[in-house]
Amino acid sequence: MSIWRWADWIEPVAPEARISLGEGSTPLIRSQVIGPQAGLQNLFFKLESTNPTGSFKDRFAAAAISHMRAAGRSRCLATSSGNTGSAVAAYAAAAQLDCHIAVVETAPQGKLQQMMAYGANVFRVRGFGLDPALSVSTFQTLQRLGQQPDAALQISSYIYSAAGMTGVETISFELHAQQELPIEHVFCPAGGGGLCVAVARGFATLARVGERPQGPAVHCVQPEGNDTMAGPLRRGAAAAQEVTCTTRISGLQVPNINDGHLVVQECRPTGGTGHLVRDDRVWELQGQLARQEGIFTEPAGAVALAGALQAAQEGLVEASAPVVCLVTGSGFKDEEAVARMLDEADCPMIEENQLETVV
Ligand SMILES: Cc1ncc(COP(=O)(O)O)c(C=O)c1O
Repeated sequence: MSIWRWADWIEPVAPEARISLGEGSTPLIRSQVIGPQAGLQNLFFKLESTNPTGSFKDRFAAAAISHMRAAGRSRCLATSSGNTGSAVAAYAAAAQLDCHIAVVETAPQGKLQQMMAYGANVFRVRGFGLDPALSVSTFQTLQRLGQQPDAALQISSYIYSAAGMTGVETISFELHAQQELPIEHVFCPAGGGGLCVAVARGFATLARVGERPQGPAVHCVQPEGNDTMAGPLRRGAAAAQEVTCTTRISGLQVPNINDGHLVVQECRPTGGTGHLVRDDRVWELQGQLARQEGIFTEPAGAVALAGALQAAQEGLVEASAPVVCLVTGSGFKDEEAVARMLDEADCPMIEENQLETVV
């Protein structure tokens, strides 16, 4: 079942323009070990890593490329830290659109190769994703190029590509339909902030149409090295802030504000707040998700969990509260991160007659 099951709730697009690779309908599973060990009795993971290109960005790409088709646009320009690029490249390939992607300087090789495999024209921009001024000017140049009559710029944030972002709001509709218990907290990893806004807006729509009285608290979790909105959200500030990015978590290296102001404005009324986590804690939990839960995620997909566990320690989450962590991307995305996770582990070559000694 694709996101189009829900599409008419948000921003309808003509059925003949819709494109789908089977995105959405991702599993919501109960934590077996990590939650109970941390004293969280009802911790759940939403496995966005199972989307067709391996991340939640497929929801964005399905909506964005469908809206492009409906508008008769044939040339897709995009920026990406990796996952948006792969998603947009795949859906552009399926719709037979020309696709050009400007990628942040530090994007992992696996993500670059995936975009190129789908046939996109991919280039990395020096300083993009690290330096806020250069990141903004890259967005602005592409915005100008995207205004040509046959083109459209796709950046997975509301301030640039609102139609595509409506696809991400379907996460909340699915969570509402899948929940075993009424969800009280959703923890979202944040880079540019679009995902947090989409989750908050999805639940706001459910409240508006009378499906539930109010949504859960939507929390924004960022690495300490990219505190554009989590800190401001927590300390009651009115706006997000630009930073110089130092985190090494791919996907969350967004030093400029993007949807940051919207996150501060829209997550606060849900009762959610900001959480800052260390890169090394995220890597540790990436390993634990694999070994204790059987969940293979890239580091960004372990960030929400780092935030939820920290919030539980701080007493911000009750032990019995139903909590969802969004696991946003697959482990296959980032080979270097997997190598770090394996550390000293080895896979020796043995002879058949040694089997009994190694098992
Ligand atoms: C795996 C993953 N998780 C989370 C995010 C953060 O999403 P947003 O930029 O909408 O905050 C990204 C963004 O690229 C991502 O790739």
